[in-house]
Amino acid sequence: MIDIQYDKKRVFVETYGCQMNVYDTELVRSILLKAGYSFVAKEQEADIALLNTCAIREHAHQKVYNRIHEIRRCHQGKSVVIGVLGCMATNLRTDLLENRRLNIDFIAGPDSYKRLPELIAQCVNDEKQWTGDKRRKAYDVRLSEFETYADVYPERPGGVNAWLAVMRGCNNFCTFCVVPYTRGRERSRAPENVVAEVRRLGQEGFKQVTLLGQNVNSYYYQGHDFADLIEEVSRVETIERIRFTSPHPKDFPEKLLNVIARHPKICKHIHLPVQSGSNRILERMGRTYTREDFLELVAKIQRIIPGVALSTDVIVGFCAETDADFEDTLSLMREVEFDSAFTFKYSQRKGTIASRQYKDDVFEAIKTERIVSLNALQKEISLKKNRAYISHCHEILIENKGNKHSPDILYGRTDDNKLVTLASGNHGLGEFVKVRIVDVSANVLKGVAI
Ligand code: 5AD
Ligand code: SF4
Repeated sequence: MIDIQYDKKRVFVETYGCQMNVYDTELVRSILLKAGYSFVAKEQEADIALLNTCAIREHAHQKVYNRIHEIRRCHQGKSVVIGVLGCMATNLRTDLLENRRLNIDFIAGPDSYKRLPELIAQCVNDEKQWTGDKRRKAYDVRLSEFETYADVYPERPGGVNAWLAVMRGCNNFCTFCVVPYTRGRERSRAPENVVAEVRRLGQEGFKQVTLLGQNVNSYYYQGHDFADLIEEVSRVETIERIRFTSPHPKDFPEKLLNVIARHPKICKHIHLPVQSGSNRILERMGRTYTREDFLELVAKIQRIIPGVALSTDVIVGFCAETDADFEDTLSLMREVEFDSAFTFKYSQRKGTIASRQYKDDVFEAIKTERIVSLNALQKEISLKKNRAYISHCHEILIENKGNKHSPDILYGRTDDNKLVTLASGNHGLGEFVKVRIVDVSANVLKGVAI
């Protein structure tokens, strides 16, 4: 790592998007701390402001553009170096670099974080010599087939859960999705490297580890698949709970389901993104399974892991989705009865297969109508499922404290990922508490310690 001789080293960082970005920000913190930077919590105090961004849906980037203007404004003429990191950096590189109103100093894609000290130094040195239009932009948005950051130990904020990326990238090219272009091809970390990190996390007091990957269950390293990896991780004694996200339905062999069923530490919750219940739309999305395949997989999962909770992702209003296609999605939701669902209106992303081959032809008003009725249905299902928990006892792991408006509340999760509130009493973070569920809504259960 190069040594940079200057005094502007206070960094403010803000994270958008998925858990992988939260984890990547921890990598960025680690890399910059090692290079002599410090972090500040307020943007006004920073010399360098970093926005770790997401490109998956359109409104995500508008939010970032607004924030860039806000940060410049709050510095009122004082200089601040602004860098855009993450998926937007790769997806919107030209706009970001050439947009004069935004006036960004540098961009770095998800595989370039080790070069951050260099990129920042380039901007700061340039700033000393040039102002305004003469300043060059620094950038590195190259994607790597190998970078896994296996040699960087993330600077985590502490707490109960630790994120840990075991693979990065995606090879699936679902037609709606920008991820393969912003994050590149799949690559996995060596199992012994992952296990060593999990061991260290246990020693540092983390109770839970969540294994991450764009297609976490497509993990593959020299003959070791995801089932092998998660089994090895579950042998680390000091870690008490293991979760993983986000998997693809195509990679659930029985071997993996048996490992999940067999190991009490591996939580009985699977996020299984379906995207649509219509075969015509699934085909256009390039999801590689049919509605029937998906339902068969759900039945297999429920048979091998009794009591498993399932959640999903659904997109409404994909190109050429008709009322009948949407009805198929609703009927699949009724049939599976997911515990919860993340629902999205289709938003066309630059560079994707869908943006080149199909028209984004479902009216916004129809997308809104569909997402409203999908959410209403899911709320009904979630509430029905949660009601079945009333009067039953569950063990929860306390993961968070209430905010200043509700300081006496703790938040925990059951093994099957239900969020439970609990009066704090004598309990604290990282503790397992047996509770009886006394009330529920569609999103959260209320527990009383027993
Ligand atoms: N428009 C809307 N939703 C999308 N997702 C991914 N790409 C898009 C898009 N272009 C959703 C999918 C995915 C989740 C992370 O985001 O449902 O599973
Ligand atoms: Fe995107 Fe599909 Fe890859 Fe998931 S599997 S990141 S939805 S292309």
